[in-house]
Amino acid sequence: MRTTVNGVQIAFTDEGPHGVAPILLVHGFPLSRGAWSRQVEAFGGSRRVIAPDLRGFGESEASPDAGPTSMFRFAEDLRALLLDLEVDSVILVGHSMGGYVAIAFAKAYPELLKGLVLVGTRAGADTPEAATGRRATAEKIKTEGTVGLVTGMVPKMLAPGNNDAAMIESVRALMAPSTPAGVIGALLGMADRPDARESLSQIKVPTLVIAGTEDTLIPFSESEEMTKAIPGADLRLISGAGHLVAFERAEAFNAALRDWLVTRSET
Ligand code: MLT
Repeated sequence: MRTTVNGVQIAFTDEGPHGVAPILLVHGFPLSRGAWSRQVEAFGGSRRVIAPDLRGFGESEASPDAGPTSMFRFAEDLRALLLDLEVDSVILVGHSMGGYVAIAFAKAYPELLKGLVLVGTRAGADTPEAATGRRATAEKIKTEGTVGLVTGMVPKMLAPGNNDAAMIESVRALMAPSTPAGVIGALLGMADRPDARESLSQIKVPTLVIAGTEDTLIPFSESEEMTKAIPGADLRLISGAGHLVAFERAEAFNAALRDWLVTRSET
């Protein structure tokens, strides 16, 4: 499905019966909504599941203006999408960059949240070195396109030693449609993003933090720290999973999310 929010056309999946609070699934960088295909399949039979392509990724249009796409801008798009779909509140699930967006959303629009699930992500800002690296990558993409970035990132999404050729190809396919403008905007936006650790203590909704024990991009110690900082948050570590935990170890991830939905979230 498609709709226009804040001046850009956004593609999204919207499946499942209405009734309890929908799950809103927000993908990471430089991915697309297909990263949640195994969750749409697992949960869409029993509740509404909404999964957008963030602007500039997947089938969604990029920002018309060059420059950084802030995590708040992505969060504003999510809010506009929910308004468009007449959804009052959601359980927001954000992976990695989608987690940065989810934390920005929780700060800006707490009234729209029923629950929060932070997956393979962190609340802190980039180090100065990491931010410089992102800006250099953005410059390179202007002339070389995204192929080099995608090729470099595919193996980092999975646990070291995961040589499942079909899965590797699927991960590449999730990244392939990302537009250079979308990737550049997100890189610059991530480089600029503020340290959000202070805001974690203000989160008032049931929260689940999930990470793979073999995540080489964002170590699971970040998840342990976020769990301590968010009042009442639960932590589930998925053993043997890398960064793209919900895709790589979908069954274990879905079981953790399902258990938490039953026991902790209020819907
Ligand atoms: C992601 O998966 O969204 C990225 O690895 C996040 C990042 O680069 O910080």
